[in-house]
Amino acid sequence: VIAFFAAKRLRGQRVLITAGPTFEPIDPVRGITNLSSGKMGFAIARAAQEAGAEVTLVAGPVHLPTPRGVRRIDVQTAQQMYDTVLPLAPRHSVFVATAAVADWRPAELSEHKIKKNGSKVAPTFALTENQDILAAVARLPDRPFCVGFAAESENLLKHAREKLERKNLPLIVGNLGPATFGRDDNTLVLVDAQGQRELPPGDKLTLARLLVEDISRRLSA
Ligand code: CTP
Ligand code: CA
Repeated sequence: VIAFFAAKRLRGQRVLITAGPTFEPIDPVRGITNLSSGKMGFAIARAAQEAGAEVTLVAGPVHLPTPRGVRRIDVQTAQQMYDTVLPLAPRHSVFVATAAVADWRPAELSEHKIKKNGSKVAPTFALTENQDILAAVARLPDRPFCVGFAAESENLLKHAREKLERKNLPLIVGNLGPATFGRDDNTLVLVDAQGQRELPPGDKLTLARLLVEDISRRLSA
């Protein structure tokens, strides 16, 4: 019984999480997206719920069941994710941004399917930058404790630290891919202003529980 209560480290806390990719339509049948299974964000949602938190999960298009007891809001585009997250963020004490948000969207959305029509020239698409959801939440006056993710293909620590500073975050979680993207196990390194700490390699739920424990210690420190 004591162990059960001791484990509920996030009791009374509200945790907001983004997960999965976003999808930016070009026309009604195609679009651009990122590779992201959503597994890490869903595992963190489950771990935070187990730790006693009230959890809201804002998910891009993924094929995953909603963790028990978690409120889930499905979105498609980065703009929809931004519009959903920003008003919710001040009511939460923790924000964990695991989503692989598309950095750009097509500047124009074609109402109808773009046809080849025997044309020899392939179409080109102008892109426009999406707003940075995490950076915007971290700029709120009543901001929650913000945790970023940095999935990199090289120079993990350098890029993670640069994002920590640029987005003004207390904590960023580095994930060196692409070998682990979409897989069930993962290697994560926690980077803060003081230094870095590698979590022991494990499946995503084990890592999520360790991360939630680390966040809860930072909240009570
Ligand atoms: N992020 C976000 N909104 C965006 C872009 C990124 O909330 N429009 C969040 C991600 O969820 C992640 C963190 O910011 O927690 C870092 O995302 P990443 O793509 O690694 O960084 P970027 O700032 O987009 O830089 P780049 O893709 O050029 O490395
Ligand atoms: Ca990006």
